[in-house]
Amino acid sequence: MKNFRIACLPGDGIGLEVMSAAQDVLQTAAEIHGGVVFDFTNFPWGSDYYVENGLMMPEDGIRQLKEFDTVFLGAVGNPKLVPDHISLWGMLIKIRRELELSLNVRPARVLRGIDSPLHSPNDFNFIVVRENSEGEYSEAGGVIHNGPDEIAVQNGIFTRKATERAIRYAFKLAKKRGSKVTSATKSNGIVHSMPFWDRIFNEVAAEYPDVETRSVHIDALSAFLVTKPETFDVIVASNLFGDILTDLGGAIMGSIGIAPSANLNPEGKYPSMFEPVHGSAPDIAGQGKANPLGQVWTASMMLDHLGLPELGAAILEACEEVTGEGIKTPDIGGTSSTEEVTAAICSALRKKADV
Ligand code: NAD
Ligand code: IPM
Ligand code: MN
Repeated sequence: MKNFRIACLPGDGIGLEVMSAAQDVLQTAAEIHGGVVFDFTNFPWGSDYYVENGLMMPEDGIRQLKEFDTVFLGAVGNPKLVPDHISLWGMLIKIRRELELSLNVRPARVLRGIDSPLHSPNDFNFIVVRENSEGEYSEAGGVIHNGPDEIAVQNGIFTRKATERAIRYAFKLAKKRGSKVTSATKSNGIVHSMPFWDRIFNEVAAEYPDVETRSVHIDALSAFLVTKPETFDVIVASNLFGDILTDLGGAIMGSIGIAPSANLNPEGKYPSMFEPVHGSAPDIAGQGKANPLGQVWTASMMLDHLGLPELGAAILEACEEVTGEGIKTPDIGGTSSTEEVTAAICSALRKKADV
């Protein structure tokens, strides 16, 4: 029996609802597998914790997380209680930085039974590799001048190491998939960082002559994801560009509530963290409307990472059986609750085990 220790951080808002759903699905997956145990430890960190303790997570929180095989996160943010820049930098981004989760991998593809808002969605299946440690998300800068003519400066930081790491990962991934990499750039409008990004992209591309490459400006790329998403395979993007493209990826799948993500520590020095692309959705929290598919698909990616790809695939297949039958939450045109969708996924998994 193999035991996996999973640190669970439900966080805020619908994070709690979709985490509970994904834990049910993972437990069912463990039952049908028979040879694994998922040992969840839930940590009550987040905005309520901040109100009580003045911190989003304890001082030694990162040390605690390092003891687990993996970290599974719901969503962070309750802007009514804690300003977003405090809650996110105190938890989500802190974990990404301190566990050195330098890559953020976010697939998007058509799922059975879920309508895309696009007029004629072809069978797209792409994956965004987002640089996850620096870029536009840097701490360099500040409000440098106060008074009526206030000035805020936000510096982008692009190191060769992190840029090359993300680009190289994208090429390695492309070799395993369709062998096509698109770089999201903006070297026509951004003077320093994006020409640098392009130069490194071209250098790495030269090492992979059999991989088809393209650099596309982020503005045009956003439009192409709407007009011809099926032409993309692996897309590599800076932190902010990748952030924006992946909500767009969720939207063209049918809802950002479906999109999954893996925050990877590529060296395996610390545990990786798995979280859906969406946030805590305060507008629907507590109403049983949250789509659990993003968190459940994320669980499937976590199982791939833990060396259980068949179990991960079984979970995703069960999700598609359920959506294919029309059992869906309201964001994708259904009338089912989070719990009903979750129960249907669990029963689809159990049925698989019987055959
Ligand atoms: P959001 O992703 O929470 O919500 C955007 C819209 O999508 C809302 O209308 C919401 O109802 C809907 N939605 C999101 N997930 C859904 C799901 N699973 N099922 C059905 N509908 C879903 O983004 P936001 O409104 O910009 O942010 C809300 C809070 O979440 C903020 O505090 C923000 O900073 C935070 N946030 C956290 C993360 C994270 O923890 N990874 C990611 C994004 C936003
Ligand atoms: C995401 C989120 C975060 C990001 C926010 C909440 C800081 O939007 O994971 O996509 O921008 O990385
Ligand atoms: Mn985002």
